[in-house]
Amino acid sequence: MMGLKSNIMALLLHLLLMLASTAKGQSIFDITTYGAKPNTDITQALANAWKDACASTNSSILLIPIGVYQLNQSILDGPCKSTIDFRLEGTLQAHPNPIGNMMVLFEHIDQLTVSGTGAFDGQRKKGGDKNDCRLEKTCAKFPRNVKFNSINNSIVKDITSLDSQNFHINLFDCKNVTLQNVTIISPESNPNSDGIHVSSSEEINILNTQISNGADCVSVGDSSKQITITNVTCGPGDGISIGSLGRYANRTEVTGVTVKSCKLINTWNGVRIKSWPDSASAYTASDLHFEDIEMVNVSNPVVINQEYCPFDQCDKKIPSKIKISNVSFKNIRGTSATSVAIQLICSKDLPCEDVEVADIDLTYTGTQGRITSQCRNVIPIITGKQNPRACVEAAPINATSTSTSMAEL
Ligand SMILES: *[C@@H]1O[C@H](CO)[C@@H](O)[C@H](O)[C@H]1NC(C)=O
Ligand SMILES: *[C@@H]1O[C@H](CO)[C@@H](O)[C@H](O)[C@H]1NC(C)=O
Ligand SMILES: *[C@@H]1O[C@H](CO)[C@@H](O)[C@H](O)[C@H]1NC(C)=O
Ligand SMILES: *[C@@H]1O[C@H](CO)[C@@H](O)[C@H](O)[C@H]1NC(C)=O
Ligand SMILES: *[C@@H]1O[C@H](CO)[C@@H](O)[C@H](O)[C@H]1NC(C)=O
Ligand SMILES: *[C@@H]1O[C@H](CO)[C@@H](O)[C@H](O)[C@H]1NC(C)=O
Ligand SMILES: *[C@@H]1O[C@H](CO)[C@@H](O)[C@H](O)[C@H]1NC(C)=O
Ligand SMILES: *[C@@H]1O[C@H](CO)[C@@H](O)[C@H](O)[C@H]1NC(C)=O
Ligand SMILES: *[C@@H]1O[C@H](CO)[C@@H](O)[C@H](O)[C@H]1NC(C)=O
Repeated sequence: MMGLKSNIMALLLHLLLMLASTAKGQSIFDITTYGAKPNTDITQALANAWKDACASTNSSILLIPIGVYQLNQSILDGPCKSTIDFRLEGTLQAHPNPIGNMMVLFEHIDQLTVSGTGAFDGQRKKGGDKNDCRLEKTCAKFPRNVKFNSINNSIVKDITSLDSQNFHINLFDCKNVTLQNVTIISPESNPNSDGIHVSSSEEINILNTQISNGADCVSVGDSSKQITITNVTCGPGDGISIGSLGRYANRTEVTGVTVKSCKLINTWNGVRIKSWPDSASAYTASDLHFEDIEMVNVSNPVVINQEYCPFDQCDKKIPSKIKISNVSFKNIRGTSATSVAIQLICSKDLPCEDVEVADIDLTYTGTQGRITSQCRNVIPIITGKQNPRACVEAAPINATSTSTSMAEL
């Protein structure tokens, strides 16, 4: 009876959706009409549905209805003839032995929407020891849950990403993309499970999003411009980061990153800029602003680390070639889990310039001394409340407190 009832409900919902949509001239491409069945591999059905949706001259909805479906790597590419709403109401589960670099890749699409209350589930087990990038320069062996390559004027909203084998959501070469009301969950014990990583992109807005994982919450890599991160809650994990910068050759400047009204709970780092010594690229990182940030028991709340070199993968004696300027940390409040609440370590060859630290109100919750701050190669402009005042002490050589994460890039 229950089954029949829910089938009828599903049918009604389907009809309603079709009516509502045809009224707006949208065509619906439901994967179940392409032979997809719950609890089976739908790679082929999805590919066929995408092909039709992408070729449609009507605006279209590619519908993945409620249900759990298995998926191998799926490459959904454009350009498409009209706008597409990839509407995920069900759960897409990665194959137990996943193949390729991502579960779903969206590529070369203008005006894409990814929406729905469903989930991309990478199926990575808790504490998975694989994929920690300790010895490797690239961590592409295991799939990201969702990758967006060369996507313009698009929106990603409401969806959930679970237990990714690698980064959860990765944007590369994108322009004007908004991610909002997204939920990302991985165990704290899974290294390299970065929430949202953006690189070589511009005009990206990330808002009203919650992320708990075992690596960077949101990270902005090189060759990026005009990135805003607003009302994102992170934790556990490794906080919000610009970087790491300079590791790879042929990359360009980062400029215009604003992080506002975010909350970090029990993360290793809070808000951070990090670059590699002995950088392969030399460029500037400027106009980077962090404002109205709440810290709850964060180990290293405010950090610039231009000696970022986890697992000694670089020559620390050669200073970073990334020039950091026009940075502000304003209205940062809450609690620090270590006594060094602010640590600003800039490049010996290229000291940071035009750094402002204003209205800091942090409390140290532990017992190992008083709250303090450390700096090297930077003289910030300090205004407003100063708990602690920035740059009370010189940062020790080989300060290590900022390399707590196992494996971020
Ligand atoms: C496009 O929409 C129109 C009007 O809703 C409909 O008649 C037509 O069949 C649709 N075309 C496709 C390819 O779905
Ligand atoms: C999915 O991948 C698995 C192994 O990785 C393979 O056995 C299976 O045939 C693939 N399925 C499809 C539909 O490609
Ligand atoms: C996205 O925008 C870039 C830069 O404006 C353009 O070169 C590229 O062709 C666009 N891609 C698509 C898929 O529209
Ligand atoms: C950015 O993308 C959104 C969503 O498609 C669109 O409404 C908006 O017009 C785009 N903005 C620009 C400047 O193209
Ligand atoms: C946010 O997404 C959830 C599903 O993850 C949905 O239930 C909720 O309605 C969305 N909120 C808004 C404001 O759209
Ligand atoms: C911040 O995001 C949360 C979801 O994570 C949402 O519930 C809340 O309304 C947002 N706040 C504002 C001011 O938009
Ligand atoms: C950097 O770009 C130059 C010129 O396009 C090219 O010759 C070189 O191989 C590139 N280096 C790397 C490491 O990609
Ligand atoms: C610093 O950054 C802000 C925000 O991007 C920008 O408006 C301002 O012009 C920059 N200041 C300098 C001196 O470049
Ligand atoms: C605060 O953070 C420390 C270090 O990460 C952790 O050991 C401790 O359990 C946290 N305290 C609370 C109350 O969550």
